[in-house]
Amino acid sequence: MSDTRGEAVLDLAHVGKGFGGTVVLDDIDLTVPQGQFVALVGPSGAGKSTLLRLVNGMHLPDRGTVRTLGVDPAACSRRELRALRSRVGFVFQQFGLVGRLSALENVLMGALATLRWPRYGVMSYPRALRERAVHQLDRVGLADQRFQRCDTLSGGQQQRVAVARTLLQRPELILADEPVASLDPAASAMVLDILKRISVEDGISVVCSLHQVDLALSTADRVVALRSGRIVLDEPAAALSAERLHALYEKAGAHGDRH
Ligand SMILES: Nc1ncnc2c1ncn2[C@@H]1O[C@H](COP(=O)(O)OP(=O)(O)OP(=O)(O)O)[C@@H](O)[C@H]1O
Ligand SMILES: [Mg+2]
Repeated sequence: MSDTRGEAVLDLAHVGKGFGGTVVLDDIDLTVPQGQFVALVGPSGAGKSTLLRLVNGMHLPDRGTVRTLGVDPAACSRRELRALRSRVGFVFQQFGLVGRLSALENVLMGALATLRWPRYGVMSYPRALRERAVHQLDRVGLADQRFQRCDTLSGGQQQRVAVARTLLQRPELILADEPVASLDPAASAMVLDILKRISVEDGISVVCSLHQVDLALSTADRVVALRSGRIVLDEPAAALSAERLHALYEKAGAHGDRH
């Protein structure tokens, strides 16, 4: 049921979703092969977050089918859904860290779902897990800051801790919902570079919603643009110009997309 060999990591077919009579996603077809970095762009309200939530079963579609890592979230029991979510890393705009805890302990919390009882303090985690956590912090360039409280780290550093926490769960797919929306340009570029490197090194697909057209083009293998709940562009990043992507946003403004 969960075998993904030779299968797309993500496969949405004719997916529709609405809230209270308003159609938010309409007839979405999207297949993502293993290892691909997909930037999901489009104006505010286009449906990007809703699409990402459908992928890990936080929302269920009204129409069509979603297959994530070979699993249909709509057909899952609660337990199966938890199992699926443990295979899908989710990085949010709000980093979701515990400010008073160290970077290392926050990363370790990424493994809490796999442990049987609550943990208090870094030393209460198994040693092998602590070593893996330090390794992931090293990958995001923060091994030296591992004992620093998260609320004393910069926004960019905090998001890198959140990425390391996600990596500890050994995700087979990473979803990122505007992971750099609250960061300055340099920190944004760094976080996306890290996500891209992880995608390449670990062969993990990343689907990342972004508002920065330039970053989408410089980071992603493929750009998918949504507007008013429909896919209006789906092309290799290399084939795209910034002007074409910017135009999507301008048209949205002119036609008054829903918000
Ligand atoms: N749980 C919900 N209940 C009702 N409406 C919702 C819900 N979630 C999303 N919507 C609506 O669905 C539409 C798409 O929202 P969504 O958050 O997916 O857009 P988005 O592309 O992520 O926008 P942004 O770039 O601002 O994050 C919006 O009109 C929003 O108000
Ligand atoms: Mg959103």
